[in-house]
Amino acid sequence: MILIIYAHPYPRHSHANHRLLQAVKDIPDVEVRSLYELYPDFNIDINAEQRALARADMVVFQHPMQWYSLPPLLKLWIDKVLEHGWAYGHDGDALVGKDCLWAVTSGGDEHHFELGDFPNFAVLAQPLQATAIYCGMNWQPYFAVHNTFTCNEPALVAAGEAYRQRLVEYLMEHSEPADQGVGHG
Ligand SMILES: Cc1cc2nc3c(=O)[nH]c(=O)nc-3n(C[C@H](O)[C@H](O)[C@H](O)COP(=O)(O)O)c2cc1C
Repeated sequence: MILIIYAHPYPRHSHANHRLLQAVKDIPDVEVRSLYELYPDFNIDINAEQRALARADMVVFQHPMQWYSLPPLLKLWIDKVLEHGWAYGHDGDALVGKDCLWAVTSGGDEHHFELGDFPNFAVLAQPLQATAIYCGMNWQPYFAVHNTFTCNEPALVAAGEAYRQRLVEYLMEHSEPADQGVGHG
């Protein structure tokens, strides 16, 4: 199944991320955990999060970009949930072989990221990508929706459809072959 770790500080005020979630939430085998709604006090239930991760074939980190980075509760979630001895380190192999997808929205367009010594959008994936790889996960090409400050209804609909197609294709590629009812003695 696909687990979406959703981190929007104001989910009820979201346009872009809300549309993305609406487009995928009815897909069987997609589970959404909205961190800011689950943990408004930032008191993360580490065991519940690890149990959810254990069920997942692919983990999606979905969030609006904030100051070129993750919303704070998602950063805290990573710090708390990806424990030594569980996600990395001695016997820390719980995430090995799982796929990882970054699904991010940004207010700015591609040019918004052309500043500083590393002027492109893809470098912003590096902390999350390195974290995933360090834990033995398979990093997938990211899904980004830019320009949310100005994008209109058709653009949001198209983004939702593209997101849905991405997740459905993943599930189709990774579905178990149907039980043929043979070989049960
Ligand atoms: C505190 C804060 C920081 C933000 N920083 C960035 C940024 O660094 N780059 C950018 O393109 N957009 C930035 N934005 C805009 C959000 O990414 C944008 O509003 C969001 O992706 C839209 O999605 P939503 O409709 O689901 O909220 C920021 C927004 C907030 C509230």
